[in-house]
Amino acid sequence: MTGTTPADILLLRKMHPLVEETLAKRFTVHRLEGSPDPEALLAEVGPRVRGLCVGGGVDGALMDRLPKLELIANFGVGYDAVDAAGAGRRNIVVTNTPDVLTDEVADLAVGLVLATIRRLPQADRYLREGHWPKAPFPLTSSLRGRRVGIVGLGRIGRAIAKRLEGFEVEIDYYGRSRQPDVAYAYHDSLIGLAKAVHVLIVVAPGGAETKGLVDAAVLEALGPEGILVNVARGSVVDEAALIAALRAGTILGAGLDVFENEPHVPAELAALENTVLLPHVGSASDHTRAAMAQLVVDNVLSWFEGRGPLTPVAETPWSGHR
Ligand code: 8YV
Repeated sequence: MTGTTPADILLLRKMHPLVEETLAKRFTVHRLEGSPDPEALLAEVGPRVRGLCVGGGVDGALMDRLPKLELIANFGVGYDAVDAAGAGRRNIVVTNTPDVLTDEVADLAVGLVLATIRRLPQADRYLREGHWPKAPFPLTSSLRGRRVGIVGLGRIGRAIAKRLEGFEVEIDYYGRSRQPDVAYAYHDSLIGLAKAVHVLIVVAPGGAETKGLVDAAVLEALGPEGILVNVARGSVVDEAALIAALRAGTILGAGLDVFENEPHVPAELAALENTVLLPHVGSASDHTRAAMAQLVVDNVLSWFEGRGPLTPVAETPWSGHR
């Protein structure tokens, strides 16, 4: 650790216990969430804070109040809520938690595809509500003979595709560029991909670049047998257009783990029978959240022990010195 005084670390909100406990042993930790007067706390400790642990938004206004800030450690692979470009301009390094959650989120995505096509939650409700003795559950759509499109063939997109190979479906993808090391069919337009497939899985990063990417025209192209699954960020899908498409039968159904305004989910979505809705649980297992927490801790320790960040984001690459 540099110097004799432990660095001041600010936790913006309640973090995984492993983060809270490990950092408390090594640093002077301040917690904004739950503080009786967050404004007064920020005014008092802000000028000393050198590390920030977050699982949500960090904007320029907050960074301006932390003039000694060196590191923002984000709990999660997606960091669209952190102004990473702004951090870079201020010479602040941002880290995230890639790889450790890839398999968990890919598992969940495949589960959500199956749950949506075969209507598993609806079938469960049907049984619990006592309808089975009266009549069998209605036949469902199927993954057999389907083409699946992946929007964003990054680490998680590839892990989803690898799993789907086991289901013997054709796999297509759309992204910024063709990836030379995969045999899946590439589409240089999202509309083109949506037209070609029956199931569209959204796994592209959030942020301004992808906002509303899946819009009314894409849903129209997916068509009346189409299923939309989103495990990325709610912002990537135009939620109002999706609700309209689900109501009108423009597409068959949707499986969503993420929403535009979490944790608030539009009542219209919940009222629809052709949706499967999850409360953003892609990475939410004991195993994977502990691995994510460990990576947050490891980034903070590595940084304050002078070894640099372990997993800096693209906007704040580590060149070996600040
Ligand atoms: C978590 C996620 O829900 O990693 C991400 O980008 O969206 C999820 O793994 C989130 O990070 C928890 O704060």
